[in-house]
Amino acid sequence: MLVSAKEMLTKAKAGKYAVGQFNINNLEWTKSILLTAEELKSPVILGVSEGAGKYMTGYKTVSAMVSAMVEELGITVPVALHLDHGSYEGAKACIEAGFSSIMFDGSHYPIDENIAKTKELVAICEEKGISLEAEVGSIGGEEDGVVGKGECADPDECKMVADLGVTMLAAGIGNIHGKYPENWEGLSFETLDAIQAKTGDMPLVLHGGTGIPEDMIKKAISLGVAKINVNTECQLAFQEATRKYIEDGKDLEGKGFDPRKLLAPGAEAIKATVKEKMELFGSVGKA
Ligand code: 13P
Repeated sequence: MLVSAKEMLTKAKAGKYAVGQFNINNLEWTKSILLTAEELKSPVILGVSEGAGKYMTGYKTVSAMVSAMVEELGITVPVALHLDHGSYEGAKACIEAGFSSIMFDGSHYPIDENIAKTKELVAICEEKGISLEAEVGSIGGEEDGVVGKGECADPDECKMVADLGVTMLAAGIGNIHGKYPENWEGLSFETLDAIQAKTGDMPLVLHGGTGIPEDMIKKAISLGVAKINVNTECQLAFQEATRKYIEDGKDLEGKGFDPRKLLAPGAEAIKATVKEKMELFGSVGKA
């Protein structure tokens, strides 16, 4: 059964560790992440961007696949199925389709409009027992066509949105989706510290987990980050392993062309990446 992310994140914030959100693209991705979470007895959040939802033919397909897989693999750790960077319409469609967690990204709206729309979704999610992530201050870089400038959020605006009753809050602290550029200035811990001072117990979310150095991840967790999103790093791990399989000519040997063989090294590489992140985030054994 899919669960809201509320309980796992409340525990993570109190226990000073973070739960990973790993984005899924297909069956292999989902299976690798679920099996790793179960093996490590870690709670997990499966992220689905609107683009990935479309790619998998729609939110109903995703929801049915994930729910069935959790059951058929005998997964016992808490699993939340979460819409990543959702629009207002996308959020409603995912609630309808059976997602257990939603992100409404209203960061590109003027703050008053972001607040009004987030508030409406708080009421809907509360009634259904679904967790809701809001965003203040856009995250930099480009993800599935959603482009953000990478600004630092205003701590007062963070407090206004946190007070609406959202479950978790994503706030820009100089983080960027995808690979970090050479001249990246790093996370703004000053901003994070100020946001936590205003928002107290609210679990904070760090987007753009790919490529953030370990010491920065640890410091961010110590300053109230309880959920960390990782997407590109799994994609790169999958790509590298798949490239090697083909470059080594394995697809030309015997039945090496069988998709179950062709996709296996990539799937194993995703498992290794997810394991590394769960260990770093401190969520191992916390299920
Ligand atoms: P990365 O692709 O940089 O890991 O970011 C993932 C993310 O923040 C999803 O919302």
